[in-house]
Amino acid sequence: IDELLSAGVDGKRVFVRADLNVPLADGVITDDGRIRAVLPTVKALAGAGAKVVVASHLGRPKGVPDPAFSLLPAAERLGELLGAPVAFAQDTVGPAAHDAVNGLQPGQVAVIENLRFNAGETSKDDAERGAFADRLAALADVYVSDGFGAVHRGHASVYDLPARLPHYAGYLIATEVGVLKKLTEDVKRPYVVALGGAKVSDKLAVIDQLLGKADRLLIGGGMAYTFLKAKGYEVGISLLQEDQIPAVTEYMERAEKNGVELVLPVDVLVSREFPDLKTKAPADYTVVDADKIPADQEGLDIGPKTRELYASKLADAETVFWNGPMGVFEHPDYAGGTKAVAQALVQSDGFTVVGGGDSAAAVRTLGFDENAFGHISTGGGASLEYLEGKTLPGLAALED
Ligand code: 3PG
Repeated sequence: IDELLSAGVDGKRVFVRADLNVPLADGVITDDGRIRAVLPTVKALAGAGAKVVVASHLGRPKGVPDPAFSLLPAAERLGELLGAPVAFAQDTVGPAAHDAVNGLQPGQVAVIENLRFNAGETSKDDAERGAFADRLAALADVYVSDGFGAVHRGHASVYDLPARLPHYAGYLIATEVGVLKKLTEDVKRPYVVALGGAKVSDKLAVIDQLLGKADRLLIGGGMAYTFLKAKGYEVGISLLQEDQIPAVTEYMERAEKNGVELVLPVDVLVSREFPDLKTKAPADYTVVDADKIPADQEGLDIGPKTRELYASKLADAETVFWNGPMGVFEHPDYAGGTKAVAQALVQSDGFTVVGGGDSAAAVRTLGFDENAFGHISTGGGASLEYLEGKTLPGLAALED
């Protein structure tokens, strides 16, 4: 982007592909981290006199307009953060978008409606995606990629559009890639990775890679129960992906062979029922050892002994990557495990990276100071796929 800025953007229409896919509760943004993350790029472009057209997806609408997924709340928040009015177009490539862009003066910003209100954005058909990219290209003179959270998607606005316009990487992309390089090239050891979240199937590929890279892997969240089951424990009605047990068993064997410490919960908070996340009414839970989960109960957070154990395993780390909450952190009674891991990162003298999505939202909503971490990524799936060593379409598209 510095190259673009020094060439001059005054009066040019610059399309910024951002990731404004923020969590919403009843239309209210609960974590605006992703909007704040794109501010440096938007401000620099607007400050240099560009007409800035910001585009993003939000959620997973089905290729048609759906008010529940409107980008309007994100556009309003962007305006508040910029301290300047932001025009909002109620369509993506239709007359409203053209009017909004044509109405921009140099230095002004418009947001167009959710890219995924158009089937062409996510289509698997190259021609359909290409046709949509052509319509997006008509809105701009230059393309800036700054939606790191979406670079693992081969979508029209991420992959096809940069081929149609002069294209540049924004500040957020540069920062995120710089950080992830530190985790993949010449990593400082001990390198400790904490992985949580609901499904082990989402993390298989990254675990596979990390078994050759990390020194320690700490497992929590819903995915831990598939590991505990593979170890021979009964897990009651906890989240379990029975079909993944063979893969997980193989990983546990490989960890041992490679000298990677694979650490599982030793105690958990269990309950007969999932907590009410709306009312946050006090939960009825007990703490049990990980091999004593009652048949009619489910594990919902790592227990106090595990929290201490994980904190001790993180204490001497030179590099930490953490992705995925340790429990149902959205309920205060089950947030303790996630808080303990976040706290251990805050206290660490090593380089700490929080990998996007839920864990990034968790550290902010649980009240941690984001500056206490080395880096909080805006990419959940994107940062995982980068660590898996995959080619990310949105980065490949910028490479020439
Ligand atoms: C994310 O939340 O990880 C990104 O915004 C990508 O969203 P997607 O998984 O719906 O493509």
